[in-house]
Amino acid sequence: MADASSFYITTPIFYVNDVPHIGHAYTEVAADVLARWHRQAGEDTWMLTGTDEHGQKILRTATANGVTPKEWADKLVDEAWKPLLETIDVANDDFIRTTDARHELNVQKFLQQLYDDGHIYTGEYEGYYCVGCEEYKQESELVPGVGEYEGQLVCAIHSKPVERLHEKNYFFRTSAFADRLLALYEERPDFVQPESARNEVLGWVRSGLADLSISRSTFDWGVKVPWDDTHVVYVWFDALLNYITAVGYGEDDAEFARRWPAQHIVGKDILRFHAVIWPAMLMAAGLEVPRGVFGHGWLLVGGEKMSKSKLTGIAPSQITDTFGSDAFRYYFMRAIHFGQDGSFSWEDLAARYQAELANGFGNLASRVIAMITRYCDGEVPRAAERSDADREIGELETRATQASWSAIQRLAIHDAIAAAWELVDALNGYLTAEEPWSLAKQPQQRERLETVLATAYHGLGTLAVLLSPVLPQATAKLWAALGAPGTVQEQRVDRAHEWSVGDRVAPLEALFPRVEVSV
Ligand code: ME8
Ligand code: MG
Repeated sequence: MADASSFYITTPIFYVNDVPHIGHAYTEVAADVLARWHRQAGEDTWMLTGTDEHGQKILRTATANGVTPKEWADKLVDEAWKPLLETIDVANDDFIRTTDARHELNVQKFLQQLYDDGHIYTGEYEGYYCVGCEEYKQESELVPGVGEYEGQLVCAIHSKPVERLHEKNYFFRTSAFADRLLALYEERPDFVQPESARNEVLGWVRSGLADLSISRSTFDWGVKVPWDDTHVVYVWFDALLNYITAVGYGEDDAEFARRWPAQHIVGKDILRFHAVIWPAMLMAAGLEVPRGVFGHGWLLVGGEKMSKSKLTGIAPSQITDTFGSDAFRYYFMRAIHFGQDGSFSWEDLAARYQAELANGFGNLASRVIAMITRYCDGEVPRAAERSDADREIGELETRATQASWSAIQRLAIHDAIAAAWELVDALNGYLTAEEPWSLAKQPQQRERLETVLATAYHGLGTLAVLLSPVLPQATAKLWAALGAPGTVQEQRVDRAHEWSVGDRVAPLEALFPRVEVSV
C-alpha cells in the first residue's frame, strides 16, 4: 500500500495514429492541475502520461504512410505528442511509450504470471472489431451507417464500418472476477467517478462479463506472447499495463510500492477498460487495484465527440497561440463541470478571457501592484486597525483555501476554481467599496489607505498561490511582482492564506493582454 501522502496520477496513453487535438489536451490539463495541486499540498506526487504505439490502428496508419510503425511512432511522439505538453504547460514527471523496453519486458512478465496461474486459456472468437476503438463490439453497440457507409453497420463512436473477425486467440478469464468487482464498487463508492460513470459500470458488470481475447495472430506489431511467438498481445491489454510498468513493476519493487496505486483520469469512451478489465487484471496478478478511475466527459463539436477520425479536431496551439497556455487551462477547467460533456466555442472562450481573466483577475493584480507602487513608493504596506470588511477578506482567504483543496480532493476541479474565484470577486468588490484612490487624496486617511492596500495585497498573494496549479505562468509573474520570497510553485496551496509577504513590489506587465480575435 502506497503511503497516504503519495499521490500518483495518470492520463490515458494516447494513440499515435494522429496528432493531438484539444480533447487530449483537456485530459492532460485536468491531470496536471490535480498533480500540481497535490504536489503543492506537500504530497509525494507523480504524474504519468505517454503514448500507445502498438496495434492495428498504428500499423495501418504507418503502412499507409510508407514507413514502419516504429518510425511513425517516433515521428509523432517527437513532433506532436511531447510538444503538446509544452504547449499547454504540463509538468509531467514521466512519459511512457509502449515501445519502451521497460514496458515490453514487464508486460511479458505480467502475462506469463497470469498464464502460469491459470487465468489464461485458448479459445476462439468471432465478432465485430472496430480498429478505431481497437475493440470487439457487440451488435448492440453498432449503428446503421450513413453516407458512404449506408447499408453497413458502423461503430457508434467512430461512425466507421467494423470488421468481422474470426480468430483463435488466448483469453483472459475476466468473468471470474465479476463478484470481486461488484464488491469493490460497493465497498468503495468513489472507486469509479463521477456517479454517472459508476452507474454505467455497475450496469455492465451486473449484466455479465465476457472473457477477453488478449492476443492477435494476424499481424505482428505488438509485444510477443512469451510462450507463443506467433501471437502478439492485444493492444489494450498491453496499454493498460503502462500504469505499473512506468513505476517499477517487475523491476523496482521500492519504486512500485512508493507510487502504486494510481488515480486514473480518462475519457468516458474508455471507462470499461479502466474500471472493469484493468482492476480484474490486477486482481488476477494479486496486485492492488487503482486508487480510483475518473471518467470525464467529452468535448463536443456540433453535438458529437470531437475526434481525429471525423476531422473535427482543433489543435491546442490554435488556442494557445492567441490566448496563451494559462487561458487554455483556465477555460476548460472552469467552463466545464469536470465529469460532464462540454461544447467548445471561440465566443465563450473569448468572453471568459476578457471578463474573468483580463478584467477580473489580471486587472485586480495590476491595480493593487500599481497603487502600492504609486502610493507607498513600492514598499509593502502593513495593516493597522482592521475594519469588518478587512477581516472578511482575511476570513475568505482561509475559506477559499480550504474549499478549493477539499474540492480538489474530490476531483471537482471546476469547484476548486470557483472557490478561488470568490476571492477574486470579493477583492474587486472590496476595492470598489474602499476606494483606496480616494483615500490617497486625504493625508489624514494614510493609515486607512495602507490597511486597505495591505489587505488587498495579502488577498492577492493568496490568490497567486491558489491559482498557481491552473495558471502557472500568470501566477509566477504575479509572485515576482508581490516581492514574496521563493517561487509560487514552492508554496503550500492547502495553506495558501499563510504565505509570507515581501518587502517591496516590482512592476507587473498585464497578465492577460488584450487579444485580437477574428472568429
Ligand atoms: O483510447 N473530449 O487513446 P486515444 C474529451 N490509447 N476527451 C477526449 C476527446 C474528446 N472529444 N477525444 C479524446 C486511447 N479524448 C487508448 C488509451 S490507456 C491505457 C489507452 C481523450 O488516443 C480522452 O482522455 O483514442 C480519451 O479517453 C482519450 O483522449 C482517448 O485517446
Ligand atoms: Mg480514441
